[in-house]
Amino acid sequence: MIEGAGGFGPGHVRARMLRRRCEKWAAEVVRAIREGRLEVSRESPAGRIALYSEISGNLLPPDLAAVELINLLRPTVAVGRFIAFAGHALHVHREAVRHLSAGAADAEIEAFIQEVRRFYPFFPMIGGRVLEEFSWLGHQFSVGDWVLLDIYGTNRHQDSWPDPDRFDPSRFLRWAGDPYSLIPQGGGPFETDHRCPGEWLTIALMGEATRQLLAMDYTVPEQDLTVPMDRLPALPRSGFVMELAGRS
Ligand code: HEM
Repeated sequence: MIEGAGGFGPGHVRARMLRRRCEKWAAEVVRAIREGRLEVSRESPAGRIALYSEISGNLLPPDLAAVELINLLRPTVAVGRFIAFAGHALHVHREAVRHLSAGAADAEIEAFIQEVRRFYPFFPMIGGRVLEEFSWLGHQFSVGDWVLLDIYGTNRHQDSWPDPDRFDPSRFLRWAGDPYSLIPQGGGPFETDHRCPGEWLTIALMGEATRQLLAMDYTVPEQDLTVPMDRLPALPRSGFVMELAGRS
């Protein structure tokens, strides 16, 4: 579903079909919770969504509740790609991460994660429509125009990031923080814009996974670790295949 979402043609059609199947499954989960056939805590994400009532006192229609449930699941699963990129970075850029260990200070782990989010072309761009007319750098934008925000280019813009094509987590140890130069999950203020509210959850999940990767004993077999620049969302060509010590 995630794989086919960014393309056109058969892959996209298949993604839509998988999405419908997933929505049917999630609607059934919602019904099963409501009818007591599936027991979950009221406080769990599924429990909260299934049992949430609107101001009118009505429960959400099951197909709407299903979409809300998937809206939580899909981005959480998508974080797995950033985790694959973290594994990729630990292996391919090992010189730059020599100092990292499972017990590293939080600031060191976070700097590594921010550099993974800056460096890799996960979602290289995002599209949107102009809601209010404006002009920028001599270009006129009219209501309804499609625009693309160049996420990858912004994250690697040399005015913000010296030597932008070098993987260097240490740049984030002295980063003052700026909502417009590091935008892998959207830019601007969270409070008033559509910047991803899951950003800190993403960073927390990636931090936990990075510590686990650093603690694990594994080798990386021969594989194609190049990252195709024409695939959306991006992933190393071979994924990131690891062989755990003691397993064959
Ligand atoms: C792989 C990690 C993720 C990436 C790359 C990502 C990326 C994005 C992007 C680019 C946007 C649109 C920003 C904009 O329009 O300005 C967005 C919005 C959103 N994201 Fe994420 N996201 C990720 C993880 C998550 C997680 C873990 C959650 C929550 C569980 C989440 C929830 C949302 C929601 C609810 C919005 C819509 C916000 C709104 O329209 O106001 N995302 N995300």
